[in-house]
Amino acid sequence: ADRHAVQPPHVLDPAARDRAAEDAALRARGSVTRVDVLGEEVWAITDPVLLKRLLLDGRVSKDSRRHWDRFPEHTTDWPLVLWVAVESMFTAYGPEHRRLRRLIAPVFTARTVNALAPDIERFARELLDDLATTPPGGTADLRERFANPLPLRVIGRLMGLPERMVPDFRRVVDGVFATAVTAAEAAANTRDLYRTVEELIALKRERPGDDLTSRLIAARDTEGDGQGLSEKECGEMLLLIISAGYETTVNLIDQAVVALLTHPGERAAARAGTVSWGDVVEETLRWQAPVPLLPMRYAIEDIELPGGTVVRRGQAILAAYSAANRHPGLHGPTAGEFDPARADKSHLSFGHGVHVCLGAPLARLEATIALRLLDERFPRLALAVPPGDLVPLPSFLANGHRSVPVVLEP
Ligand code: HEM
Repeated sequence: ADRHAVQPPHVLDPAARDRAAEDAALRARGSVTRVDVLGEEVWAITDPVLLKRLLLDGRVSKDSRRHWDRFPEHTTDWPLVLWVAVESMFTAYGPEHRRLRRLIAPVFTARTVNALAPDIERFARELLDDLATTPPGGTADLRERFANPLPLRVIGRLMGLPERMVPDFRRVVDGVFATAVTAAEAAANTRDLYRTVEELIALKRERPGDDLTSRLIAARDTEGDGQGLSEKECGEMLLLIISAGYETTVNLIDQAVVALLTHPGERAAARAGTVSWGDVVEETLRWQAPVPLLPMRYAIEDIELPGGTVVRRGQAILAAYSAANRHPGLHGPTAGEFDPARADKSHLSFGHGVHVCLGAPLARLEATIALRLLDERFPRLALAVPPGDLVPLPSFLANGHRSVPVVLEP
Protein backbone atom coordinates (compact mmCIF):
# COMPACT_ATOMS: atom_id res chain seq x y z
CA ALA A 1 0.00 0.00 0.00
CA ASP A 2 2.79 2.39 0.88
CA ARG A 3 5.41 2.56 -1.84
CA HIS A 4 7.69 4.44 0.55
CA ALA A 5 7.94 1.30 2.62
CA VAL A 6 9.66 -0.54 -0.25
CA GLN A 7 11.54 2.27 -1.95
CA PRO A 8 14.87 2.81 -0.16
CA PRO A 9 15.53 6.39 0.85
CA HIS A 10 17.42 8.71 -1.46
CA VAL A 11 20.76 9.33 0.22
CA LEU A 12 21.62 13.03 -0.08
CA ASP A 13 25.10 13.71 -1.44
CA PRO A 14 26.91 15.43 1.47
CA ALA A 15 29.17 17.21 -1.04
CA ALA A 16 26.22 18.32 -3.21
CA ARG A 17 28.21 17.82 -6.41
CA ASP A 18 25.20 18.32 -8.70
CA ARG A 19 22.32 20.26 -7.13
CA ALA A 20 20.09 20.34 -10.22
CA ALA A 21 20.47 16.61 -10.90
CA GLU A 22 19.80 15.65 -7.31
CA ASP A 23 16.72 17.88 -7.21
CA ALA A 24 15.42 16.31 -10.44
CA ALA A 25 15.96 12.87 -8.89
CA LEU A 26 14.03 13.92 -5.78
CA ARG A 27 11.11 15.31 -7.84
CA ALA A 28 11.03 12.13 -9.93
CA ARG A 29 10.38 10.12 -6.75
CA GLY A 30 7.17 12.05 -6.09
CA SER A 31 5.96 15.13 -4.24
CA VAL A 32 6.92 13.52 -0.94
CA THR A 33 9.75 11.04 -0.61
CA ARG A 34 12.05 9.42 1.94
CA VAL A 35 15.50 11.01 2.13
CA ASP A 36 18.56 10.13 4.17
CA VAL A 37 20.09 13.34 5.53
CA LEU A 38 23.56 12.42 6.80
CA GLY A 39 22.09 9.34 8.44
CA GLU A 40 18.69 10.63 9.55
CA GLU A 41 15.68 9.48 7.52
CA VAL A 42 13.07 12.15 6.88
CA TRP A 43 10.28 13.09 4.47
CA ALA A 44 11.39 15.51 1.74
CA ILE A 45 8.68 17.63 0.13
CA THR A 46 9.43 18.76 -3.43
CA ASP A 47 5.98 19.83 -4.63
CA PRO A 48 5.57 23.59 -4.13
CA VAL A 49 1.80 23.45 -3.54
CA LEU A 50 2.04 20.71 -0.93
CA LEU A 51 5.10 22.33 0.61
CA LYS A 52 3.35 25.69 1.01
CA ARG A 53 0.38 23.96 2.58
CA LEU A 54 2.57 22.21 5.14
CA LEU A 55 4.47 25.43 5.89
CA LEU A 56 1.14 27.02 6.84
CA ASP A 57 -0.13 23.97 8.77
CA GLY A 58 -0.34 24.40 12.55
CA ARG A 59 0.32 20.66 12.92
CA VAL A 60 3.86 21.22 11.62
CA SER A 61 6.46 22.53 14.07
CA LYS A 62 10.18 23.33 14.01
CA ASP A 63 10.60 22.63 17.73
CA SER A 64 12.72 19.48 17.89
CA ARG A 65 12.64 19.39 21.68
CA ARG A 66 8.91 19.00 21.81
CA HIS A 67 8.12 17.40 18.48
CA TRP A 68 10.88 15.19 16.99
CA ASP A 69 10.92 11.60 18.15
CA ARG A 70 14.66 11.36 17.35
CA PHE A 71 15.69 14.25 19.57
CA PRO A 72 17.91 14.45 21.53
CA GLU A 73 19.19 10.92 22.13
CA HIS A 74 19.47 9.89 18.46
CA THR A 75 20.97 13.12 17.19
CA THR A 76 23.99 13.59 19.43
CA ASP A 77 26.27 12.25 16.68
CA TRP A 78 24.43 13.90 13.81
CA PRO A 79 26.47 16.60 12.02
CA LEU A 80 23.41 18.85 11.57
CA VAL A 81 22.30 18.78 15.19
CA LEU A 82 22.93 22.53 15.55
CA TRP A 83 20.21 23.26 12.96
CA VAL A 84 17.60 21.60 15.11
CA ALA A 85 19.03 22.26 18.57
CA VAL A 86 19.28 26.05 18.39
CA GLU A 87 16.72 27.62 20.69
CA SER A 88 15.73 30.74 18.82
CA MET A 89 12.81 31.91 16.71
CA PHE A 90 14.21 29.60 14.01
CA THR A 91 12.95 26.58 15.98
CA ALA A 92 10.30 28.08 18.28
CA TYR A 93 6.66 27.07 17.94
CA GLY A 94 3.41 28.99 18.38
CA PRO A 95 3.25 31.85 20.94
CA GLU A 96 6.94 31.42 21.80
CA HIS A 97 7.83 32.02 18.15
CA ARG A 98 5.57 35.06 17.93
CA ARG A 99 7.13 36.59 21.05
CA LEU A 100 10.71 36.20 19.79
CA ARG A 101 9.92 37.35 16.28
CA ARG A 102 8.04 40.43 17.48
CA LEU A 103 11.07 41.54 19.47
CA ILE A 104 13.26 41.82 16.41
CA ALA A 105 10.93 42.27 13.45
CA PRO A 106 10.97 46.12 13.56
CA VAL A 107 14.66 46.08 12.65
CA PHE A 108 13.96 44.33 9.36
CA THR A 109 11.01 46.25 7.92
CA ALA A 110 11.45 47.57 4.38
CA ARG A 111 11.75 51.11 5.75
CA THR A 112 14.53 50.49 8.23
CA VAL A 113 16.31 48.24 5.77
CA ASN A 114 16.17 50.82 2.99
CA ALA A 115 17.92 53.25 5.30
CA LEU A 116 20.95 50.96 5.01
CA ALA A 117 21.18 51.50 1.23
CA PRO A 118 23.80 54.31 1.39
CA ASP A 119 26.04 52.14 3.60
CA ILE A 120 25.62 49.15 1.29
CA GLU A 121 26.49 51.28 -1.76
CA ARG A 122 29.55 52.68 -0.05
CA PHE A 123 30.79 49.19 0.93
CA ALA A 124 30.17 47.94 -2.61
CA ARG A 125 32.07 50.86 -4.18
CA GLU A 126 35.01 50.35 -1.81
CA LEU A 127 35.19 46.68 -2.74
CA LEU A 128 34.97 47.49 -6.45
CA ASP A 129 37.73 50.11 -6.07
CA ASP A 130 39.85 47.46 -4.48
CA LEU A 131 39.01 44.98 -7.24
CA ALA A 132 40.06 47.56 -9.83
CA THR A 133 43.65 47.29 -8.57
CA THR A 134 43.86 43.84 -10.20
CA PRO A 135 46.68 44.01 -12.81
CA PRO A 136 45.33 44.37 -16.37
CA GLY A 137 44.40 40.99 -17.81
CA GLY A 138 44.77 39.30 -14.42
CA THR A 139 42.13 37.14 -12.83
CA ALA A 140 40.37 37.90 -9.56
CA ASP A 141 38.07 35.75 -7.44
CA LEU A 142 34.81 37.67 -7.48
CA ARG A 143 33.42 35.59 -4.63
CA GLU A 144 36.35 36.28 -2.34
CA ARG A 145 36.70 39.95 -3.32
CA PHE A 146 33.07 41.03 -3.67
CA ALA A 147 30.23 38.51 -3.11
CA ASN A 148 31.65 37.44 0.24
CA PRO A 149 32.86 40.68 1.85
CA LEU A 150 29.79 42.76 0.96
CA PRO A 151 27.20 40.89 3.09
CA LEU A 152 29.84 40.36 5.76
CA ARG A 153 30.38 44.12 6.04
CA VAL A 154 26.64 44.79 6.03
CA ILE A 155 25.93 42.31 8.81
CA GLY A 156 29.05 43.57 10.59
CA ARG A 157 27.73 47.14 10.44
CA LEU A 158 24.24 46.11 11.56
CA MET A 159 25.48 44.00 14.47
CA GLY A 160 28.53 46.08 15.32
CA LEU A 161 31.05 43.26 14.82
CA PRO A 162 34.52 44.52 15.68
CA GLU A 163 36.86 44.20 12.69
CA ARG A 164 39.11 41.74 14.49
CA MET A 165 36.23 39.32 15.12
CA VAL A 166 35.14 39.21 11.47
CA PRO A 167 37.48 36.35 10.41
CA ASP A 168 36.26 34.24 13.36
CA PHE A 169 32.64 34.81 12.48
CA ARG A 170 33.29 34.02 8.87
CA ARG A 171 34.92 30.72 9.74
CA VAL A 172 32.27 29.54 12.20
CA VAL A 173 29.35 30.59 9.98
CA ASP A 174 30.91 28.74 7.03
CA GLY A 175 31.07 25.77 9.37
CA VAL A 176 27.34 25.98 10.14
CA PHE A 177 26.57 25.37 6.46
CA ALA A 178 29.15 22.64 5.86
CA THR A 179 27.58 19.22 5.26
CA ALA A 180 30.57 17.16 4.13
CA VAL A 181 31.82 17.04 7.72
CA THR A 182 32.01 14.56 10.57
CA ALA A 183 29.91 14.95 13.70
CA ALA A 184 33.11 15.76 15.63
CA GLU A 185 34.04 18.55 13.23
CA ALA A 186 30.53 19.98 13.41
CA ALA A 187 30.55 19.82 17.22
CA ALA A 188 33.90 21.61 17.37
CA ASN A 189 32.57 24.33 15.09
CA THR A 190 29.44 24.72 17.23
CA ARG A 191 31.59 25.20 20.33
CA ASP A 192 33.63 27.86 18.51
CA LEU A 193 30.44 29.52 17.30
CA TYR A 194 28.97 29.88 20.78
CA ARG A 195 32.32 31.01 22.15
CA THR A 196 32.53 33.72 19.46
CA VAL A 197 29.00 34.93 20.25
CA GLU A 198 29.80 35.06 23.97
CA GLU A 199 32.94 37.04 23.24
CA LEU A 200 30.90 39.51 21.20
CA ILE A 201 28.34 39.94 23.98
CA ALA A 202 31.04 40.52 26.60
CA LEU A 203 32.74 43.06 24.37
CA LYS A 204 29.54 44.96 23.57
CA ARG A 205 28.40 44.93 27.17
CA GLU A 206 31.62 46.68 28.08
CA ARG A 207 31.61 49.07 25.14
CA PRO A 208 28.13 49.43 23.65
CA GLY A 209 27.74 51.00 20.23
CA ASP A 210 25.03 52.10 17.86
CA ASP A 211 24.26 48.58 16.73
CA LEU A 212 21.75 45.77 17.05
CA THR A 213 23.93 43.69 19.36
CA SER A 214 24.15 46.53 21.87
CA ARG A 215 20.40 47.09 21.65
CA LEU A 216 19.62 43.43 22.25
CA ILE A 217 21.95 43.40 25.25
CA ALA A 218 20.40 46.58 26.62
CA ALA A 219 16.93 45.09 26.23
CA ARG A 220 18.21 42.09 28.15
CA ASP A 221 19.85 44.09 30.92
CA THR A 222 17.27 46.79 31.58
CA GLU A 223 13.83 45.36 30.93
CA GLY A 224 12.31 43.93 34.05
CA ASP A 225 8.86 43.31 32.66
CA GLY A 226 9.62 39.80 31.44
CA GLN A 227 9.19 40.92 27.85
CA GLY A 228 12.88 41.23 27.08
CA LEU A 229 15.34 38.50 26.22
CA SER A 230 16.99 36.14 28.67
CA GLU A 231 20.78 35.88 28.51
CA LYS A 232 20.51 32.65 26.55
CA GLU A 233 17.87 34.04 24.18
CA CYS A 234 20.05 37.05 23.48
CA GLY A 235 22.98 34.86 22.45
CA GLU A 236 20.77 32.61 20.34
CA MET A 237 19.22 35.62 18.60
CA LEU A 238 22.66 37.01 17.72
CA LEU A 239 23.80 33.63 16.50
CA LEU A 240 20.71 33.30 14.31
CA ILE A 241 20.90 36.72 12.70
CA ILE A 242 24.61 36.55 12.02
CA SER A 243 24.51 33.05 10.56
CA ALA A 244 21.23 33.49 8.64
CA GLY A 245 22.19 36.82 7.19
CA TYR A 246 25.61 36.27 5.77
CA GLU A 247 26.41 33.05 3.87
CA THR A 248 22.93 33.04 2.28
CA THR A 249 23.39 36.49 0.77
CA VAL A 250 26.92 35.70 -0.37
CA ASN A 251 25.58 32.78 -2.37
CA LEU A 252 22.76 34.84 -3.85
CA ILE A 253 25.25 37.40 -5.19
CA ASP A 254 27.65 34.66 -6.35
CA GLN A 255 24.88 32.85 -8.26
CA ALA A 256 23.38 36.02 -9.76
CA VAL A 257 26.78 37.10 -11.11
CA VAL A 258 27.49 33.65 -12.55
CA ALA A 259 24.00 33.51 -14.09
CA LEU A 260 24.55 36.87 -15.82
CA LEU A 261 28.05 35.97 -17.02
CA THR A 262 26.74 32.76 -18.56
CA HIS A 263 23.55 34.31 -20.08
CA PRO A 264 24.66 37.21 -22.31
CA GLY A 265 21.14 37.89 -23.63
CA GLU A 266 19.68 38.24 -20.15
CA ARG A 267 22.64 40.36 -19.08
CA ALA A 268 22.08 42.70 -22.04
CA ALA A 269 18.37 42.91 -21.17
CA ALA A 270 19.20 43.90 -17.61
CA ARG A 271 21.67 46.54 -18.75
CA ALA A 272 19.14 47.92 -21.23
CA GLY A 273 16.48 48.00 -18.53
CA THR A 274 14.17 45.54 -20.30
CA VAL A 275 14.30 43.62 -17.04
CA SER A 276 15.34 45.21 -13.75
CA TRP A 277 18.26 44.17 -11.53
CA GLY A 278 15.53 43.25 -9.05
CA ASP A 279 14.10 40.82 -11.64
CA VAL A 280 17.54 39.25 -11.99
CA VAL A 281 17.80 38.87 -8.22
CA GLU A 282 14.33 37.33 -7.99
CA GLU A 283 14.95 34.87 -10.81
CA THR A 284 18.30 33.92 -9.27
CA LEU A 285 16.52 33.22 -5.99
CA ARG A 286 14.14 30.93 -7.86
CA TRP A 287 16.69 29.26 -10.13
CA GLN A 288 19.53 28.86 -7.60
CA ALA A 289 17.96 28.75 -4.14
CA PRO A 290 20.71 29.91 -1.75
CA VAL A 291 19.41 27.45 0.87
CA PRO A 292 18.35 24.40 -1.17
CA LEU A 293 17.06 22.30 1.73
CA LEU A 294 15.87 23.49 5.12
CA PRO A 295 16.18 21.20 8.16
CA MET A 296 13.84 20.45 9.88
CA ARG A 297 10.11 20.33 10.64
CA TYR A 298 8.05 17.77 12.57
CA ALA A 299 4.50 16.49 12.52
CA ILE A 300 2.88 17.14 15.89
CA GLU A 301 0.16 14.63 14.99
CA ASP A 302 -0.33 12.14 12.14
CA ILE A 303 -0.77 14.09 8.89
CA GLU A 304 -2.29 12.38 5.89
CA LEU A 305 -1.05 13.76 2.58
CA PRO A 306 -2.75 13.62 -0.81
CA GLY A 307 -1.96 10.21 -2.31
CA GLY A 308 -2.31 8.53 1.04
CA THR A 309 1.15 8.97 2.52
CA VAL A 310 0.94 9.53 6.26
CA VAL A 311 3.60 11.53 8.04
CA ARG A 312 3.49 10.06 11.52
CA ARG A 313 3.54 12.18 14.63
CA GLY A 314 7.15 12.84 15.61
CA GLN A 315 8.57 12.27 12.13
CA ALA A 316 10.69 14.92 10.42
CA ILE A 317 9.99 16.87 7.23
CA LEU A 318 12.64 18.48 5.02
CA ALA A 319 11.58 21.47 2.90
CA ALA A 320 13.17 20.91 -0.53
CA TYR A 321 13.09 24.54 -1.63
CA SER A 322 15.41 24.33 -4.64
CA ALA A 323 13.55 21.29 -6.03
CA ALA A 324 10.18 23.02 -5.53
CA ASN A 325 11.38 26.22 -7.23
CA ARG A 326 12.04 24.35 -10.48
CA HIS A 327 8.86 22.28 -10.38
CA PRO A 328 7.28 22.07 -13.84
CA GLY A 329 3.86 22.17 -12.19
CA LEU A 330 4.65 25.69 -11.07
CA HIS A 331 6.83 27.03 -13.90
CA GLY A 332 6.07 24.77 -16.84
CA PRO A 333 8.59 23.18 -19.21
CA THR A 334 11.05 26.11 -18.84
CA ALA A 335 11.23 25.71 -15.05
CA GLY A 336 14.89 24.73 -15.32
CA GLU A 337 15.96 27.79 -17.30
CA PHE A 338 17.27 31.14 -16.03
CA ASP A 339 14.86 33.76 -17.38
CA PRO A 340 14.50 37.03 -15.46
CA ALA A 341 11.81 38.11 -17.96
CA ARG A 342 9.40 35.33 -16.99
CA ALA A 343 6.21 36.85 -15.60
CA ASP A 344 5.89 34.47 -12.65
CA LYS A 345 9.15 34.18 -10.74
CA SER A 346 7.53 32.88 -7.56
CA HIS A 347 9.75 30.74 -5.38
CA LEU A 348 10.13 29.41 -1.85
CA SER A 349 13.75 30.38 -1.27
CA PHE A 350 12.84 32.51 1.75
CA GLY A 351 10.40 29.90 3.07
CA HIS A 352 6.72 30.65 3.59
CA GLY A 353 4.40 31.19 6.53
CA VAL A 354 5.32 32.21 10.07
CA HIS A 355 9.03 31.41 9.70
CA VAL A 356 9.43 33.22 6.38
CA CYS A 357 12.86 34.84 6.23
CA LEU A 358 12.99 38.03 8.24
CA GLY A 359 15.98 39.29 6.27
CA ALA A 360 14.44 38.97 2.79
CA PRO A 361 14.16 42.76 2.18
CA LEU A 362 17.77 43.23 3.25
CA ALA A 363 19.02 40.34 1.12
CA ARG A 364 17.17 41.63 -1.95
CA LEU A 365 18.48 45.15 -1.40
CA GLU A 366 22.09 44.00 -1.01
CA ALA A 367 22.01 41.81 -4.10
CA THR A 368 20.29 44.43 -6.26
CA ILE A 369 22.83 47.09 -5.31
CA ALA A 370 25.68 44.63 -5.84
CA LEU A 371 24.60 43.71 -9.37
CA ARG A 372 23.90 47.27 -10.47
CA LEU A 373 27.21 48.70 -9.22
CA LEU A 374 29.24 45.74 -10.46
CA ASP A 375 27.82 46.10 -13.97
CA GLU A 376 28.32 49.86 -13.94
CA ARG A 377 31.93 49.51 -12.90
CA PHE A 378 33.01 46.51 -14.97
CA PRO A 379 30.72 46.24 -18.00
CA ARG A 380 33.13 43.85 -19.75
CA LEU A 381 33.48 41.47 -16.79
CA ALA A 382 33.80 37.82 -17.89
CA LEU A 383 34.39 34.42 -16.33
CA ALA A 384 38.06 33.43 -16.45
CA VAL A 385 37.23 29.72 -16.68
CA PRO A 386 34.67 27.66 -18.62
CA PRO A 387 31.40 27.64 -16.61
CA GLY A 388 31.71 23.86 -16.20
CA ASP A 389 34.92 24.37 -14.24
CA LEU A 390 33.18 26.28 -11.44
CA VAL A 391 33.13 24.01 -8.40
CA PRO A 392 30.02 23.98 -6.20
CA LEU A 393 30.41 24.43 -2.44
CA PRO A 394 30.44 21.02 -0.76
CA SER A 395 27.10 21.59 0.97
CA PHE A 396 23.42 20.84 0.41
CA LEU A 397 22.54 23.75 2.72
CA ALA A 398 24.49 26.45 0.88
CA ASN A 399 24.29 26.78 -2.88
CA GLY A 400 27.31 28.69 -4.13
CA HIS A 401 30.76 28.17 -5.65
CA ARG A 402 34.14 27.64 -4.06
CA SER A 403 35.41 30.53 -6.16
CA VAL A 404 34.30 32.64 -9.12
CA PRO A 405 37.41 33.54 -11.17
CA VAL A 406 36.81 36.54 -13.42
CA VAL A 407 38.71 38.89 -15.69
CA LEU A 408 37.65 42.53 -15.39
CA GLU A 409 38.69 43.74 -18.86
CA PRO A 410 39.11 40.84 -21.24
C1 HEM B 1 14.88 32.33 8.06
C2 HEM B 1 16.60 32.13 3.55
C3 HEM B 1 18.99 36.31 4.22
C4 HEM B 1 17.43 36.39 8.79
C5 HEM B 1 15.18 31.93 6.79
C6 HEM B 1 14.74 30.68 6.21
C7 HEM B 1 15.22 30.62 4.95
C8 HEM B 1 15.96 31.84 4.72
C9 HEM B 1 15.02 29.51 3.93
C10 HEM B 1 13.97 29.61 6.94
C11 HEM B 1 12.57 29.49 6.50
C12 HEM B 1 11.99 28.20 7.04
O1 HEM B 1 11.75 28.08 8.26
O2 HEM B 1 11.79 27.27 6.25
C13 HEM B 1 17.39 33.25 3.34
C14 HEM B 1 18.03 33.58 2.08
C15 HEM B 1 18.70 34.75 2.28
C16 HEM B 1 18.48 35.16 3.66
C17 HEM B 1 17.94 32.73 0.84
C18 HEM B 1 19.55 35.56 1.33
C19 HEM B 1 19.51 35.43 0.04
C20 HEM B 1 18.76 36.71 5.51
C21 HEM B 1 19.27 37.92 6.10
C22 HEM B 1 18.85 37.92 7.41
C23 HEM B 1 18.05 36.73 7.62
C24 HEM B 1 20.11 38.96 5.37
C25 HEM B 1 19.11 38.92 8.51
C26 HEM B 1 20.08 39.75 8.56
C27 HEM B 1 16.60 35.31 8.97
C28 HEM B 1 15.93 35.00 10.23
C29 HEM B 1 15.18 33.83 10.02
C30 HEM B 1 15.43 33.45 8.63
C31 HEM B 1 16.03 35.79 11.52
C32 HEM B 1 14.31 33.09 11.03
C33 HEM B 1 12.87 33.53 10.90
C34 HEM B 1 11.91 32.71 11.74
O3 HEM B 1 12.18 31.53 12.03
O4 HEM B 1 10.85 33.24 12.12
N1 HEM B 1 15.93 32.61 5.84
N2 HEM B 1 17.68 34.22 4.25
N3 HEM B 1 18.03 36.02 6.44
N4 HEM B 1 16.27 34.37 8.04
FE1 HEM B 1 16.87 34.38 6.11
